[in-house]
Amino acid sequence: MVGADAGHTAVLLPQVLAALNIRASGAYLDATFGRGGHAGAILEQLIADGRLLCLDRDSAAVADARARFGEDSRVRIFLAPFSELAACADAVEPGLKFDGILFDLGVSSPQLDDAARGFSFMRDGPLDMRMSRGEGVSAADVVNGASEAELIRIFREFGEERMAPRIARAIVADRQIRPFERTAELAEMIARVARSRERHKHPATRVFQALRIYVNAELDELEAALAAALDRLAPNGRLAVISFHSLEDRMVKQFMRRHASPDPVYAGLPDMPAHARPTLKLVGKSVQPASEETERNQRARSARLRVAERIGQGVAA
Ligand SMILES: C[S@@+](CC[C@H](N)C(=O)[O-])C[C@H]1O[C@@H](n2cnc3c(N)ncnc32)[C@H](O)[C@@H]1O
Repeated sequence: MVGADAGHTAVLLPQVLAALNIRASGAYLDATFGRGGHAGAILEQLIADGRLLCLDRDSAAVADARARFGEDSRVRIFLAPFSELAACADAVEPGLKFDGILFDLGVSSPQLDDAARGFSFMRDGPLDMRMSRGEGVSAADVVNGASEAELIRIFREFGEERMAPRIARAIVADRQIRPFERTAELAEMIARVARSRERHKHPATRVFQALRIYVNAELDELEAALAAALDRLAPNGRLAVISFHSLEDRMVKQFMRRHASPDPVYAGLPDMPAHARPTLKLVGKSVQPASEETERNQRARSARLRVAERIGQGVAA
């Protein structure tokens, strides 16, 4: 079935395909391959000289991409963080620009469902959370090594957790007795000291989100990748971004709005130099899944798609 491959159901699939406005012989970039639900559906619309670059920083996702599409001459696959998308594009063809770029942010169902990856407070596993397996610091390194003040900052900044000080204090006290190694240990401890204000939300939800964002430098990655994507969009090329929490959605919204407006320094002046003109045009309002989709796929609940189009060269604001 298109859109539901190897344990991950692609979110907002028809809306993404419409947003990308696919040209059969165009060049497209799926910056978050996952299990290829979106990539497979894009490929179905490309003819022999169409191109699709697929990126993922997770070697399991890339192995899946190679198994499914490695023999397809239209497809190039890279194990890389999406902040390096320009280098990946250059490896295919120097200066390559795309008619559409998709980011479907966050983690995939196989990552969440595999307890050994340590993303989930629902399934006990090592406290890891690294998307790029084995690279950089793990969640356990952060929980056991960061100062109380740093933990408070991480939980507030990346989890918007109101009880950050109480949870950080409890972590620092408990880890002196025994370091945290398992997701269940951390989740149970948080449930003991903090109550969730949100119905149906486990009290550890926000701390786990914060640790995941911090461990994977998700906001830095997104900031760098949005700038690189803008640079690599062909005239009239579409940028489609699905985010799953307010921090990344805010970043995407502000980025798109900023580049869809003229440089405020030149506001009111009769002549707008080319570099001060908008480079993007917003395409519609943000889109959230309909209830039929969220009933079928719970993980779609918090998804929000934003779309913008690169303004063609020489087109005035
Ligand atoms: C929500 S899933 C994508 C699902 C995919 N669209 C599908 O239909 O199967 C997000 C994927 O993006 C990858 N990812 C997240 N941040 C990344 C980054 N900074 N660079 C590259 N890949 C990233 C994750 O490893 C994960 O596989």
